Amino acid sequence: MKDSKYVQIANTIEQRIKDNQYSANSKLPPHRLLADEFKTTPVTVAKAYKLLSSKHLVESFVGRGTFVCENSALNKAIQPLEDDKNYNFSILQPCLYKNVIPLKNAMQKASEELGANFIGYTENSGHESHRLAGVNWAKHFGLVGGTIQNTLLTDGAQHALSLLINAMTQPGDTIAVEELTYPGILAIASLAGRKVVGVPLDEEGVSPEALDMVIRENKPKLVIIIPSHQNPTGITMPESRRRAIAKVIDKHAIWLVEDDIYCFLDQPSIPPISNFIPEKSFHISGLSKAISPALRCGYLKVPECQIGKINAHIRANIWLSSPITYMLATSLIESGEAFEMAKLQRETAIERQLIASDYLQGVQNSPSGYHIWLPLPSQWTRERFLVEANRKGIIVSSGGYFSVSGENSNFIRLSLMAISSEQKLKEGLEMLKELMLSDMLTDFLS
Ligand SMILES: Cc1ncc(COP(=O)(O)O)c(C=O)c1O
Repeated sequence: MKDSKYVQIANTIEQRIKDNQYSANSKLPPHRLLADEFKTTPVTVAKAYKLLSSKHLVESFVGRGTFVCENSALNKAIQPLEDDKNYNFSILQPCLYKNVIPLKNAMQKASEELGANFIGYTENSGHESHRLAGVNWAKHFGLVGGTIQNTLLTDGAQHALSLLINAMTQPGDTIAVEELTYPGILAIASLAGRKVVGVPLDEEGVSPEALDMVIRENKPKLVIIIPSHQNPTGITMPESRRRAIAKVIDKHAIWLVEDDIYCFLDQPSIPPISNFIPEKSFHISGLSKAISPALRCGYLKVPECQIGKINAHIRANIWLSSPITYMLATSLIESGEAFEMAKLQRETAIERQLIASDYLQGVQNSPSGYHIWLPLPSQWTRERFLVEANRKGIIVSSGGYFSVSGENSNFIRLSLMAISSEQKLKEGLEMLKELMLSDMLTDFLS
């Protein structure tokens, strides 16, 4: 049977959205125009828009028209733009200008040390001295048991995540993730044809009971957890919760991928879950968040029985990460400067969280985290807020990008670290506060 007219129109518009003919946040043609094109009535077009709206593809605003919702593509979720005209609250990166001088110095030193031995191919994902630096980096923040044999080098944490999803699961397999999680994980799973199931979170992170149930019901091969300064909720799991999660994982035939790239923001450090189940867990740390995303240095500790397999995947994919970058990273770690840089970023995060709390009162956040998970006042939907914020040059990340189910996320994520100066951060926060209050006055913000 043929679809009714309005379903056909909705399908055509959906295809145009997919083809980027109607891009995210753009306004769709008025009903009358589409009615002419499809030789129908504006009422039928309105029904098509309603159907698209129920699929969260578009959103209509009285008096302003219908707009395409943003999709969860990674490049939409996280936007690296920064210029004088915008306020970028979207990207989670260190306050970069603070790291330029130490990086320049380390580059100079590394260039003096550069010899033929560092510019050839190597085995086992990279040089021993570079892997040893990775062992020491992760150890400093609480990981035990790292060695030059079980610690491999990747091109950042994203590469480690992609590597593990591809090496440890097959197309069609299920991966368990936090119900709100880093969109980079969702993007890999979607491209690789893996199903994703969300595990409910409570105020301490992944709930052990919920994880147990999700594993029993969905039989995932892998569970990915961000234990510290969780992206996007900002939750840091206390040690007791980490132990409880380790116990659940230990009971089942499942691997843990512990994405611990924000571990340097915990002071004192908290033992990673991997410490309790070293033979069932992959631990990821790296330098993107503490030093610079441009370094692309990820350190991956793998269970002894998986070293050969993961090394084979690295070699097949990239052979090895750039030793030149790793020379730089190793020099910074060996001299202790990497730890000083991480400390400085942590202190900056603390200062910026304090600044933000003056503008966004009553919002609970991690006091040393890079970001805020901000509930929107009830008169705002996240799509509408994003469109309005964008018009004012404020770039934020919609809660929808992080949600496995698309539900329960009338939130936005605000990074406090990408805007270079504190003065500009304050201006941006003031504009955000005004925008949130502008639609209807609530007592949500001061
Ligand atoms: C939880 C999480 N994992 C991984 C990454 C990517 O890290 P990298 O730049 O080292 O690939 C991010 C970046 O935002 C992240 O938030």
